[in-house]
Amino acid sequence: MIRIIGGGAVGQVLAASAVAARQERVILQVRPAQRDDWVPLSQMSVQLASKRIQLPRPEMVTEPSLQGVRYLVLSVKNTQLDEVLTQLPQTLPRNCTVVSALNGVAHLRKLRMYWPDATIVPMTVMFNAQLRHPLCVMVSGRPLVCLSSQDDRLLTAFRSDWLRVKAIEGEGQLWGKLLINQSNALCTLTHTSFEQLFRDPDLRRCYVASLDEAVQVLDTAARPYQLPVPLPYTAYRWLLLNGRNVPWWLAHYRHGLHSQSYPSMVSDAEQGKPTEVDDLQGEIIELGLRHRVPTPIASFIREQIRQLDYRNPILSPSQLWQHLRSLGMPVTLA
Ligand SMILES: NC(=O)c1ccc[n+]([C@@H]2O[C@H](COP(=O)([O-])OP(=O)(O)OC[C@H]3O[C@@H](n4cnc5c(N)ncnc54)[C@H](OP(=O)(O)O)[C@@H]3O)[C@@H](O)[C@H]2O)c1
Repeated sequence: MIRIIGGGAVGQVLAASAVAARQERVILQVRPAQRDDWVPLSQMSVQLASKRIQLPRPEMVTEPSLQGVRYLVLSVKNTQLDEVLTQLPQTLPRNCTVVSALNGVAHLRKLRMYWPDATIVPMTVMFNAQLRHPLCVMVSGRPLVCLSSQDDRLLTAFRSDWLRVKAIEGEGQLWGKLLINQSNALCTLTHTSFEQLFRDPDLRRCYVASLDEAVQVLDTAARPYQLPVPLPYTAYRWLLLNGRNVPWWLAHYRHGLHSQSYPSMVSDAEQGKPTEVDDLQGEIIELGLRHRVPTPIASFIREQIRQLDYRNPILSPSQLWQHLRSLGMPVTLA
């Protein structure tokens, strides 16, 4: 049995694909208010770029029980993980594997401390999902998840004809995704979409400055990373600075992002919810501190996000670039 905790954008996609895969019984653990709203609906839908998938909705529960659970999937925000853990027993059922779909890497440390003997599998979510209506989620491109596991039963439990599941080794993908996700806070500070990020020259400069700093930290800390684009960092960086429309075309045609795709941090900030900046920029800052690499850009961005209030004027891309420039670049932009 699969129990997915968190019926948000990612949780619904995973639940729908697991229902479509028909390998395991699927239970979605949601908030009581969500259960009340969704129980009358018998179907759930996933809107892909090319088609709409309609499926019977999975069983929904609100009580945190792990009885009979083979795969426990966590798909809440990092800021909600502590709350989830306080509801779960420190002893897992025999053979229960924990799969964590959270962004960043801090959640893995937390989970390994909470369940030192458990098998914890990181899942890297390589798509952008946004909730549109109750039990209706829109997904970018040809969705893919990567699992750091060779457990065939787990891999097939989520594989459907529209969700690809790839087995990977190590945590290089997680660090690569963490790098790419440094952009989430840039979009949030300027209230911009992915399209604006990849098209606006100032935002592209901000992104490269932020990536340069983060890459320097990872290189110094000897953390291997694999970007979710088929390019080494130097080529990706060159493309961002000089590639005109190519970065957006790559994001659009290869990763299926569309003009209304926003990082989920933007909607968290819009709703006044805590953001995951501590798990993205924060991770780079902490690692930089440990390895004596200064991180003025990540620190500035984290501070700005912490103070962000969309009821007040926000930074324009050029204002953000002026701020980052004034901090002094660890690497010059060419
Ligand atoms: N969305 C994406 O495109 C995407 C892509 C890659 C990675 N990720 C990562 O995947 C993770 C999940 O993201 P998401 O976009 O799915 O977030 P989300 O839409 O905010 O979904 C999280 C859901 O979990 C619920 N929840 C929180 N604590 C719960 C609890 N104790 N019991 C039951 N439900 C609980 C939340 O309810 P409330 O809202 O009521 O708190 C919310 O419905 C995040 O770490 C995110 O960064 C997301």
